Amino acid sequence: MSLRFDGKVAIVTGAGGGLGRTYALELAKRGCKVVVNDLGGDRHGTSASSSMADKVVQEIKAAGGQAVANYDSVEFGDKIVKTAIDNFGRIGNFFQSLIFFYIGTLDIVINNAGILRDVSLLKMTELDWDLIFKVHVKGAYAVTKAAWPYMRDQKYGRIVVTSSNAGVHGNFGQANYAAAKSALIGFANSLAQEGAKYNILANTLVPTAGSRLTETVMPKNLVDALKPEYVTPLVTYMVHESFQESGKLFEAGAGWYGTIQYYKGKGKVISNASADDIAKNWSTITDMAGAEFIGTISEQSGRLMALLDENESSSAPSGGSSSGSAFP
Ligand code: NAI
Repeated sequence: MSLRFDGKVAIVTGAGGGLGRTYALELAKRGCKVVVNDLGGDRHGTSASSSMADKVVQEIKAAGGQAVANYDSVEFGDKIVKTAIDNFGRIGNFFQSLIFFYIGTLDIVINNAGILRDVSLLKMTELDWDLIFKVHVKGAYAVTKAAWPYMRDQKYGRIVVTSSNAGVHGNFGQANYAAAKSALIGFANSLAQEGAKYNILANTLVPTAGSRLTETVMPKNLVDALKPEYVTPLVTYMVHESFQESGKLFEAGAGWYGTIQYYKGKGKVISNASADDIAKNWSTITDMAGAEFIGTISEQSGRLMALLDENESSSAPSGGSSSGSAFP
């Protein structure tokens, strides 16, 4: 087992079942100290219990690993981070602080906790919308925000947020969930930029697995076949010291591992375009031949500035529309 996590401390939210449980078990098996967070409620975000997190902690300890349970909802991220620091934090005694010795503070956050409240927009209630955003978006924000100062001080951090194919493509009956999962992509991509100079890497995971969340929408044979353990190796690598990607989306399911990237079509510069010009040029505007990968917003801003120059220099003196040229 070459990817080890000895001396590292991780928080895995929603680790009492499904995917999160497998991440916690795998990290602990590889030497990581793990905070197993789980509210222990039902899949719709109501009720709570300590039993789910406790069970996983027992499993980890029985296998010789180190773990502690936390039962707070992810919206109280500071309490979850406090559990990590109180149990696995920096050695605080005078002698060791003199030689500035660390046994680890908080190195890894896997934002995994999640619920579903599937319903069409017409029938969606405020509660359906708010609970989804509270758990997925506010939860990831609250845990990551509380962990950030520790990662920044030690100049080391590995953060994963969990999106979904619904967040990438949208899904019928999941406007709330898809919007929240999409929000998490922007969240991680922004953290990747803010964390770069502190060696804090943030990435997004798009998993597919059979779990109590998906058993409501997948047939039983698929739930059984799509083992959460197929996703675990990717997440484990994504939070390892040797992993150097940041601001990216990675996907896993059914034993397949891949990446999702945004490409921009070459489009077309049209000076002083009217709606009619847009309609006339629609096939060129939407042509994806020769599309290019845009990694960051500054690359995009640079392109826009170049296009502005191109647009201005190609403007016809009459002010009428011109065909212009394709994206450089
Ligand atoms: P799961 O229901 O088995 O696990 C989610 C865990 O989060 C549960 O143990 C639950 O008790 C916990 N949780 C819920 N609300 C919480 C809160 N407020 N605070 C702390 N813990 C809370 O579901 P699964 O499938 O393992 O999902 C894990 C993550 O992966 C979720 O974010 C989900 O949206 C995402 N996902 C899962 C997919 C799949 O195919 N299973 C597909 C796409 C995304």
